[in-house]
Amino acid sequence: MFSDLIRERYSVREYSRKPVEEEKLRAVLEAGRLAPTAKNAQPQRIYAVKSGDMLEKLRSVCGMTFDAPAVIVICADLSASFVSPFSGRNLGETDAAIVTDHMMLQAADLGLGTCWVGWFDPAEIKKALGIPENLEVMNLLPIGYPSENSKPSPRHGDRKPLEETVTEIRAPAFPAYGTAGI
Ligand SMILES: Cc1cc2nc3c(=O)[nH]c(=O)nc-3n(C[C@H](O)[C@H](O)[C@H](O)COP(=O)(O)O)c2cc1C
Repeated sequence: MFSDLIRERYSVREYSRKPVEEEKLRAVLEAGRLAPTAKNAQPQRIYAVKSGDMLEKLRSVCGMTFDAPAVIVICADLSASFVSPFSGRNLGETDAAIVTDHMMLQAADLGLGTCWVGWFDPAEIKKALGIPENLEVMNLLPIGYPSENSKPSPRHGDRKPLEETVTEIRAPAFPAYGTAGI
């Protein structure tokens, strides 16, 4: 059940050496392909790093790949993404986050571990992998089978209660014109 999946998923920071099967990696990438994006612009540009050499290069510039057997690098072409005419905000980063989340959850459903990583120098990643200038590196997703010793971090279950993050609006804060004799 989806509700079990999202409860059981946790950030995996210790991986077994077992490689990720091609078809499973493909299924994870497919989940990213199916993700919704603003105006369906699909600005995500994704690099699936599987080769030993390139993984080594990536590991040398990012201390948070956790020796995973593969790393998915999620980039976005911000010239292709939707810009809100109201706020002027480019939604490409949001799109990349949704794509990443879809892949993370698909991976969990296939018994694979991931850890969303935002702690990296994008310029270093671009240089190491030869990623074109026009792309922004948004997120890294190390992926693989959790090692035998892998367990959720102590803070995994540390979530604020709904009341702290959700405001329920049940009735207009002010009476609408005409309804209260105004
Ligand atoms: C945008 C984002 C960036 C993150 N960056 C990192 C990171 O650089 N390194 C890391 O170890 N975990 C990173 N995480 C994982 C979070 O620390 C983790 O999801 C959170 O502590 C909750 O733990 P859980 O995923 O086990 O439930 C990131 C998560 C998100 C959503």
